[in-house]
Amino acid sequence: DWTMGAYREEAIKKIRAQVGDAKVICGLSGGVDSSVAAVLIHEAIGDQLTCVFVDTGMMRAGEADEVVSLFRDHYNIPLIHADDSELFLGELKGVTDPEQKRKTIGRLFIDVFDKHASEVGGAEFLAQGTLYPDVIESVSFSGGPSVTIKSHHNVGGLPERMKLKLVEPLRELFKDEVRALGRELGLPAAFVGRHPFPGPGLAIRCPGEITREKLDILRQADAIYLDEIRKAGLYDTIWQAFAVLLPVRTVGVMGDGRTYDHVCALRAVTSVDGMTADYYPFPHDFLGRTASRIINEVRGINRVVYDVTSKPPGTIEWE
Ligand code: XMP
Repeated sequence: DWTMGAYREEAIKKIRAQVGDAKVICGLSGGVDSSVAAVLIHEAIGDQLTCVFVDTGMMRAGEADEVVSLFRDHYNIPLIHADDSELFLGELKGVTDPEQKRKTIGRLFIDVFDKHASEVGGAEFLAQGTLYPDVIESVSFSGGPSVTIKSHHNVGGLPERMKLKLVEPLRELFKDEVRALGRELGLPAAFVGRHPFPGPGLAIRCPGEITREKLDILRQADAIYLDEIRKAGLYDTIWQAFAVLLPVRTVGVMGDGRTYDHVCALRAVTSVDGMTADYYPFPHDFLGRTASRIINEVRGINRVVYDVTSKPPGTIEWE
């Protein structure tokens, strides 16, 4: 695609002009955006870039391994794989309010990136895969009054506290354009086609207080759901699909015993840019099959519901 080719050249020039010979760290989230940003910046400045994958304890199953192997083995881009899960989960203890969760996570990311910036010999810049919709949605909601719907952690509240300066080469792009740029840069098709994953991770898919136990339950349910979606050949038709673990227990019956366990909600939407979305109309047999698997295979869940809310009035994530 010649347009993306031109964008790539232009972006590379801008990155070089902005950072000069300073060092840059790039926070990888496991998603497409930060990965595309990293590969683009690596093209621009080579070894001045170090990527940092922060394991917050709130990633999906297998996320860390996939990202680490892509960057370390496939691209040979220096990568710090930091396990900061104790810090994140510790600070989130007792936090139940969605904005409070987002702000806590945003603040911790700043601290952690500052720490890793000094580890690589004083990086001056932090690169992020912020997209255009992230920028607008943190400030206002399209067509509505100027209110904050959600503080996107990679934009909201960063500037005042952080010593690092930001490099955000994707700030003008929508998701489909980032995917085109990713293909242009030679990222594997399966990686470019990945569903978006939010910076705050599973924290915002686990309403109420977050615990390691709940996150483990959620990860298992989410993996089964995505496995069924892939088997049904639906992954690429859907913009985003994930499980949510509700802070509600209900009574059930398994074998000849009573159960009293969590409810899991399944979410799947189609969208062009994430700003508006429609719920995905799964066939009933798909939903029934997936629900049975989750209830049979995941200890701690005894009921599954499907979210049929579009955006607006819902948002895609539950928090
Ligand atoms: P909502 O829930 O606002 O989500 O309808 C729209 C899209 O943005 C993703 N999302 C985030 N991405 N940091 C991110 O990088 C965030 O804090 C964040 N919050 C939501 C969400 O997954 C969806 O694709």
